This record gives sequence, C-alpha cells and structure tokens, in this order.
Amino acid sequence: MLEIDGLDCCYGKVNALRAVSLTVNQGELVTLIGANGAGKTTTLKAISGLLPPVGGSIHFEGEDITQASAKRILALGIAHCPEGRRVFPYMTVQENLEMGCYLRTDRSALTEDMERIFTRFPVLAERRSQMAGTLSGGEQQMLAIGRALMSRPKLVLFDEPSLGLAPNLVERTFDIIMEIRAQGTTVLMVEQNAYAALEMCDRSYLLESGQVALQGTGQDLLDDPHVREAYLGG
Ligand SMILES: Nc1ncnc2c1ncn2[C@@H]1O[C@H](COP(=O)(O)OP(=O)(O)O)[C@@H](O)[C@H]1O
Ligand SMILES: [Mg+2]
Repeated sequence: MLEIDGLDCCYGKVNALRAVSLTVNQGELVTLIGANGAGKTTTLKAISGLLPPVGGSIHFEGEDITQASAKRILALGIAHCPEGRRVFPYMTVQENLEMGCYLRTDRSALTEDMERIFTRFPVLAERRSQMAGTLSGGEQQMLAIGRALMSRPKLVLFDEPSLGLAPNLVERTFDIIMEIRAQGTTVLMVEQNAYAALEMCDRSYLLESGQVALQGTGQDLLDDPHVREAYLGG
C-alpha cells in the first residue's frame, strides 16, 4: 500500500533521514520506534507532504507521491495525527473536526461523519461547542484522532500518540488505534514507548540516526538483544 524507497530528508544542512526504505501493507499496523531525534517524525512529515524529500521515492497505492502536495496526499487517503495533539485551540471541537475533511464539499456526508466520530468519542459530543484549547490532554488526543478519521482515510499516521498522557489514557489511546485497525484502516504509528509499540504491531522498524537499523515482526524485535538492551531496559 505504502512503499518508501531510499528516502533522504534534510533540514538545511541537517541530514535527518538517510536511505530509509519501508513498506506498509494494506490492513497492517506498522510501528516506527527509535530514540529522540532518530527521524521518526521526519518520516511521517515526508509521507504526508509536509517536508519534500531530497532523495528516494514514496508510492501510495501505486501512485508516486514523493513530491505531491499535502492536500493531494490527504485526498488520496492518508491522514496525519501529529505529534503533541495539535488541535486548533481557538476553534470549537466541531470546527476542529470539520478541518479534518476540509476537502469535502458535501455537507450531509460531513454531518454523518461527524456523528460517527461523536458516537465513538461521546466526550467530544458533550463538548462539541467548547473551545478545543480548554479540553484536557486526553480529550485533545481524542479530538486529534477524531479529526484524522474525519477524512475516512485508508492509512492513518500517528505520531507519538501516547506522549504526555496519563497511564490509563495511554492504554485507552492504544486500544482506539487497534480498534481503528480492526475496522480495516491501515496504521503507521511512531512511538517512543517501544514495548507497547512492539506488542501491538504486526511489523516494526527501528530507526537510529536517520537510518533503518532493524526491521521485523513485533516479536522479532522484542526478542532482539540490541532492542532489549537499548530500548526495553534489558
Ligand atoms: N525543523 C527542524 N529543523 C532542523 N532540524 C530538525 C527539525 N526537525 C527535526 N530536526 C532534526 O532532524 C532529526 C530528526 O528529527 P525527528 O524526525 O523530529 O526525530 P524523532 O521524531 O525521531 O524524535 C533530529 O536530528 C532533529 O534535530
Ligand atoms: Mg518525533
């Protein structure tokens, strides 16, 4: 479904990704793990068209999207749930959800999708007219996930969905992500919590200094001595 081949990305002179290759097959939950600064967010930004790569290619369902605009990539069915649950603080919950499918013009389908999100996240329904900036961290995370789902994506990119959440909310967030996958949406998730990421995924890639250091099934990586030593606390 998604094929990344030899991807290079830079921020000015900083080489953030070097020859990264990875694939995500339809229906899979693939995770990308690695330390701070390894290049995880950069990979997701490149996929969603926020950072044009300087080398390599990205194909989605056969189409070359390496230099495609963020708008085109969203229209093709890739949604990005960004790091730090970036919601629009001075917009209401409802307006934030509308932003998730700004490409759509049919009002009735939009209302239908919004009701679908409100059914899944009742807490958002209760607060639909509230400014997003006044929601708790957990509620903002639900809103960010809900917004990503508004476009009915085929593939959702999650960037550190557990970051900064209380433990019970971390679990709830991972449950929601597994539910999304169980309903047929493909998921690529970046996560610093390596143990959780490896437990819940089909396959995983370990990034180190902008390069793929290891790849395999979640179990392969859980059993790997280097992963255990460096990312799972021995
Ligand atoms: N906007 C930016 N400008 C310059 N360097 C950046 C920027 N964003 C990230 N980097 C650098 O790129 C590398 C990869 O960063 P990032 O993809 O954010 O890592 P991760 O998400 O794995 O923590 C790091 O060395 C980081 O310092
Ligand atoms: Mg990051």
